[in-house]
Amino acid sequence: ALVEKGNYRHFMEKEIHDQPEGCQRTIAAYVDTLTAHTAIPGEVDWARLERVQIVACGTSYIAGLMGKYLIEQLADLPVDVEIASEFRYRQPALRKDALAIAMSQSGETADTLAALRFCQAKGMMTAAVVNAVESTMAREVDVVWPIHCGPEIGVASTKAFTAQVSVLTAVAVAAARARGRIDEAEEQRLVRVLLEAPRLIAESIKLEEAVRSIALDVSRARDVLYLGRGPMYPLALEGALKLKEISYIHAEGYAAGELKHGPIALVDEQTPIVILAPFDSYFEKSASNMQEVMARGGQVIFITDPEGERHAPAGARVVVTAPKCDPLIAPLVLSAPVQLLAYHVAVCKGADVDQPRNLAKSVTVE
Ligand code: G6P
Repeated sequence: ALVEKGNYRHFMEKEIHDQPEGCQRTIAAYVDTLTAHTAIPGEVDWARLERVQIVACGTSYIAGLMGKYLIEQLADLPVDVEIASEFRYRQPALRKDALAIAMSQSGETADTLAALRFCQAKGMMTAAVVNAVESTMAREVDVVWPIHCGPEIGVASTKAFTAQVSVLTAVAVAAARARGRIDEAEEQRLVRVLLEAPRLIAESIKLEEAVRSIALDVSRARDVLYLGRGPMYPLALEGALKLKEISYIHAEGYAAGELKHGPIALVDEQTPIVILAPFDSYFEKSASNMQEVMARGGQVIFITDPEGERHAPAGARVVVTAPKCDPLIAPLVLSAPVQLLAYHVAVCKGADVDQPRNLAKSVTVE
C-alpha cells in the first residue's frame, strides 16, 4: 500500500508522530490487556535460559542495547549486545543454551542476517524483532517478534526504534516473572505502566515547539555531545546518531560518567551538550556532570521530567521537561524530544531529512 505523508513535511516527522499508535499496537501484541500479564509469542524457557545474545546494526543495535539494560536489571539474565558486522567476523564464544535475538526493522540487513545464521549454525535458538514480517529473517528464525508500527519510510529510524524498545520492555518483564525476580502483582503493575506509554509518548511529542525553538541555535554548532546514564546512555547514542545522520553535524553519545575520560576536552562556549536525565536513581550524578560542563562554558540542553526540572542546577541553556513517568518507560517517553531535536535541526539546515546523503534505508549488501 502507498504510504502518504499527510499534512507532514517529511516522513520522518510523520513517523515521530505515529509513535503513540505504533507503540500502542506493538505493546498490545505482547501483553494481555485484560489480566495485565505479559504474553510473549513463542516457547522461550526464560527460567532455564543462561544468556541472551542480541545482534543488530544502526538504530536497531541501540534498541538492543536498551534491551540489555532492561533485561539484565529486571530479569537478572545476562545479555550480550553486539554490532552484527563485528560479531560475524570475530570468533565469539557462544553457548547453545543462549537465545539469539536479531533486531532489524527491515529483516534484511546483510550483517545481521549473517550473524543470525552464525548463531543458528551453533545450535542456538533464534528470535527476530522485525517490522517486515515477510522478510528473510522472519522466515529463518524460530520465533518472530513483530513490531506493529506500520511501514517506516524515513531513512533515519524513529517509530521502529520505540516499537523495538516496547517489545524488549515486555520481554524483560516476562523474563523477570518467569525467573521469579518479580511477583505477579509487580508484573501486573509493570504491564500497566507499559500500557501507559503510548499516552505519555503523545504528551512528550507536544514538546515539539519547545524543541523547535532551540533548533536554529543547535544547527550552528560544529559538535554536539549527548550524555546519559543507565538507560539514558543508549538514548544518548541514539540522539547523536540521529543528529549526525540527518543534519551532518558531528555528534557523539557518551556515558555521562565517561565525560572526564575524553569528551570534556571538546566542551567550549560553542558546544551544545544534551544531557538526558529524568529524576531517577542516576539523577544526582547526571546533575553533577551538568555542572562540570557548564563550568567550562558548555551550553546545556537538559532533557528531564518535572521532578528533575525542580532539582536541576541553575544555568542550563534550556530545560525540556517531558511528562512524569515510571522509569520502566522513560526510554520511550524521552525518545520523542531527542528525535524532534535532530529533525528540526536538519530542517533548519535545509537538509534532505528523509533521504540523507550516502545513507540507505536498508543495507542488504555489505
Ligand atoms: C540502516 C538504516 C538505519 C537502520 C540500520 C539497520 O543504516 O539507515 O536506520 O537502523 O540500517 O537496519 P535494520 O533494517 O536492520 O533495522
